[in-house]
Amino acid sequence: MKPYKPAYYRDYLSLDAILNAQSLRSAEYNNDQESAHDEMLFIITHQAYELWFKQMLTELDSILALMSQQPLPEPDVALVLHRLQRMNKIGPVMLHQVEILETMTPMDFLDFRGVLYPASGFQSVQFRLLEMKLGLQDSQRLTTHLRLDDRDNARLDAVRQQPSLFVLLEGWLERMPFLEWQHDDNGNDDGNNQPRYAFWQEYRLAVTAMFDHERQIMRETMPDERTTAQVLAQIAASEQSFSALFDETTYNSLREQGVKRLSFKATQAALFIFLYREYPLLQLPFRLLESVIALDEVFSLWRYRHAQMVLRMIGARIGTGGSSGYDYLLQGAMKYRVFADMSALSAFLIPRRSLPALPPNVSSMLGFSFEK
Ligand code: HEM
Repeated sequence: MKPYKPAYYRDYLSLDAILNAQSLRSAEYNNDQESAHDEMLFIITHQAYELWFKQMLTELDSILALMSQQPLPEPDVALVLHRLQRMNKIGPVMLHQVEILETMTPMDFLDFRGVLYPASGFQSVQFRLLEMKLGLQDSQRLTTHLRLDDRDNARLDAVRQQPSLFVLLEGWLERMPFLEWQHDDNGNDDGNNQPRYAFWQEYRLAVTAMFDHERQIMRETMPDERTTAQVLAQIAASEQSFSALFDETTYNSLREQGVKRLSFKATQAALFIFLYREYPLLQLPFRLLESVIALDEVFSLWRYRHAQMVLRMIGARIGTGGSSGYDYLLQGAMKYRVFADMSALSAFLIPRRSLPALPPNVSSMLGFSFEK
């Protein structure tokens, strides 16, 4: 066995390397040879972010490895959830750091902004890796011109070939066994292979009944015919949006148009999980879906917050990386979402009291198996 060497705080944390890693370019390039006071804050803030990105990537890599297993062992679902939750906790820390950087005024920033060209946050490879590993597609990007060097491009290319969290999650949802559960009118498993439609037919009836009820209430309560007609048209539009959920061909054409990304099968599985989340077997999958939706939000919030800071700092100027600056960042905050199809499922939920009751064999499979 290797002889034990006592650990020492400075060495263990490589503090010599980290604390000597702030080289102020303003000291080097400003004509008066004086460093800009706020450049230290600018560098340290970016470095702190990069460390948190590294921690997020560590969690995400382990999540991807766990999710790549087929079948995914149940205890590992809990582990995936736990690590996703950790990533989500890093979110508020990332948000709050913006406030510290905002103590730098636009004039303070101008003291050294000129020496930063053409570097920019565009070149944060760890941020790009996070986006790609989560599942952001190149086709979603507003620009692919990131001005990366060959080394960084090679890192991104290697990851581009690997399945993202979105892809692995979609595959896992598609494999959910309850899509194949069958039952006859008495709730007994009929044994022949007539998958999933029994449930979805019932759900469709429940949806129709819900809209009929809404129509009836509106007819009785609206003040005049014109308002009634408007409200009825809105109800008809909502009802129409449900149709893709029950018809794979319609759904797939939406997918081809780029309106939807998640597969039909995975969408149905995710919706089933949302609808019947109270069942013990569906609790973990439900919380996992909630966590990826929250993670999308973490990134959107950060993007939005970063964009506001940029507006305050440089107004409508272009970025050092050559983008339109604020406009580009704001659009990104809206557009760069990976799990948007999961959050959009809320539109297809119906009230608990209208939900079809699950047949006994299905509900016992979803419950605690040790209960009689
Ligand atoms: C004074 C503070 C900051 C300003 C004025 C600023 C400005 C910008 C601008 C204008 C862009 C668009 C690309 C370009 O044309 O350069 C950008 C992108 C970016 N910045 Fe910042 N930034 C600041 C601080 C930060 C910090 C602290 C981070 C933390 C890592 C960061 C990370 C990023 C990332 C990841 C992008 C790429 C976003 C994307 O393409 O979706 N920025 N920044």
